[in-house]
Amino acid sequence: MNLTDRVVVITGGAGGIGAALGRRFAAEGAAAVVLADLAADAARATAEAIGPVATGVGLDVTDEAAVRALVEETERRHGRIDLFCANAGVATGGGIDAPDADWDRAWRVNVLGHLHSARAVLPGMLSRGQGHLLLTCSAAGLLTAVGDAPYTATKHAAVGLAEWLAITYRDAGIRVSALCPQGVDTPMLADGLTEGHLGARVIAASGTILSPDQVADAVIAGLAEERFLILPHPEVADYARRRAEDPDGWQAGLRKLVRKLRAADR
Ligand SMILES: NC(=O)c1ccc[n+]([C@@H]2O[C@H](COP(=O)([O-])OP(=O)(O)OC[C@H]3O[C@@H](n4cnc5c(N)ncnc54)[C@H](O)[C@@H]3O)[C@@H](O)[C@H]2O)c1
Repeated sequence: MNLTDRVVVITGGAGGIGAALGRRFAAEGAAAVVLADLAADAARATAEAIGPVATGVGLDVTDEAAVRALVEETERRHGRIDLFCANAGVATGGGIDAPDADWDRAWRVNVLGHLHSARAVLPGMLSRGQGHLLLTCSAAGLLTAVGDAPYTATKHAAVGLAEWLAITYRDAGIRVSALCPQGVDTPMLADGLTEGHLGARVIAASGTILSPDQVADAVIAGLAEERFLILPHPEVADYARRRAEDPDGWQAGLRKLVRKLRAADR
């Protein structure tokens, strides 16, 4: 897919990776870019900065009826949705002791939000025999977000859902991509570092931190090649291979990194 004249919806589009995708899609000639976010005012401000092609709206992806209404309204206004980026996500910074409310929120945003998006957008795409669904998952969905158990479990579920969708709908003309970045310089990572979350510190210590615009570059390339797995940090493919070949060795390496970070605290 190239972006010229495409109608695109991006959840979690107010800032971070979602906003960078919106800016880049508009620059690539998209016909319409809808930025939908819990932070409605921020989504509107981001859209205004992009220009008339963009619209900002309030949306809670955990509310299935609201996701359906957004899809219906976008199809009514623009005739179709070519690309839906289910990008909204939340981190918790918690382990198994994180309150059930945190586990529930991570599940409802990181997994059910993607499911609601797929349910709402697929009927229109299937009726046209084409469309692209991009689920922002995470390298945590292929590996582990040390220090964030709800994030790890729900991002693994998100990758599983993306793969299921890709296999099930490809022959009907639907393309599905799973975007799996490692560290990206957005409020999510910055907040984790400010609060001293181990997970954010491991990310910062274990690889390159990309800008959201660099992630958008990788997405443009991945969409052009209709790739399932979009890895803005290419080294994640190597990490995933090593983890699959030698899970015990892989875990030992991560434990060593955590010990090193904890020793630095003393
Ligand atoms: N920053 C990273 O290092 C990193 C790495 C891998 C994956 N990701 C993923 O990238 C995606 C975007 O995150 P980001 O890094 O840009 O962080 P971010 O916090 O800037 O963006 C997340 C956006 O999602 C919105 N959101 C949260 N809950 C929502 C809900 N219920 N409904 C609608 N919108 C909601 C937030 O308001 C926010 O604008 C997330 O899915 C995140 O898990 C981020």
